[in-house]
Amino acid sequence: MGPLQALGRWFVTLLGSSLLNIMKSRNSPLSYLHHCSLSSFPKTFPSFPFSTSTKFRPINSTKMEGSEITEEVSESRETTNGNAKKKIFVAGATGSTGKRVVEQLLAKGFAVKAGVRDLDKAKTLLSKDNPALQIVKADVTEGSEKLAQAIGDDSEAVICATGFRPGWDLLAPWKVDNYGTVNLVEACRKLGVNRFILISSILVNGAAMGQLLNPAYIFLNVFGLTLVAKLQAEQYIRKSGINYTIIRPGGLRNDPPTGNVVMEPEDTLYEGSISRDQVAEVAVESLLHPEASFKVVEIVSRTDAPKRSYQDLFGSIKQR
Ligand SMILES: *[C@@H]1O[C@H](CO)[C@@H](O)[C@H](O)[C@H]1NC(C)=O
Ligand SMILES: *[C@@H]1O[C@H](CO)[C@@H](O)[C@H](O)[C@H]1NC(C)=O
Repeated sequence: MGPLQALGRWFVTLLGSSLLNIMKSRNSPLSYLHHCSLSSFPKTFPSFPFSTSTKFRPINSTKMEGSEITEEVSESRETTNGNAKKKIFVAGATGSTGKRVVEQLLAKGFAVKAGVRDLDKAKTLLSKDNPALQIVKADVTEGSEKLAQAIGDDSEAVICATGFRPGWDLLAPWKVDNYGTVNLVEACRKLGVNRFILISSILVNGAAMGQLLNPAYIFLNVFGLTLVAKLQAEQYIRKSGINYTIIRPGGLRNDPPTGNVVMEPEDTLYEGSISRDQVAEVAVESLLHPEASFKVVEIVSRTDAPKRSYQDLFGSIKQR
């Protein structure tokens, strides 16, 4: 058991049910977590994969060989009128947010390569009859080489909608939210894919925001320092030079949108919630608006907020 795991278990035992009881009276903080198809992990794991001093390899267009990727549907690159559709790789495509991202991309005329851990699950969840959808096996915890094979040389952008499944593996946030995201960015660099959308969470920088005692911040970090893992992944992306949009939603709701999207700069929102449909919409819209590039945006929805265009919303956030 690693020190982080030991610390986490101790923390859970100590706070256990009393914290859970406090949380029940709040705005369901469990909904902050992205529920994804990431349940079992390799037993061994490198100690601390993240390093701010990592040297990036120059982008290099070397073709991948010996792909083990299972392609369920192929021939999806052309539209009927012969124009190549933009193909977007979605990591965590069977997750509650990921599958909405896939649906909305398809609805807006993109081709999608859905990266999933479980092909059978993906076939039941995703609209497999759509010729613009390709399902490939991809596990973000398996390293950037395999991911690069999955992403391939035909994807123009990557949307990362992965997230660990809450459980007793307290290293899961590091494997998925940190190491997994870093692997995806590295794979993009290898392939020359220069557009990366990350779905993260509000409060990732809660410590710097003076929100250390915010119940949601405490609660999420009980699960193996989830928010710390996400924050470090964000910092890695921002240093990588890739054209990024980091989306930090508030508490995630499965029900349809009830209000309009409120978009704020990083480290400003510390409460509120948003429908996963709207989170997916923001992710897809960020591909369509130059105003979204190199930005971190925090989003919630409010019934009393005015309806604004995405150009306006993204345009109102300053690059840092
Ligand atoms: C790609 O990288 C390899 C090894 O680092 C190098 O030998 C090769 O010249 C590079 N190719 C391009 C196109 O930069
Ligand atoms: C970044 O991506 C956006 C949207 O996908 C695009 O409009 C913009 O031109 C890109 N910027 C750079 C510098 O590549």
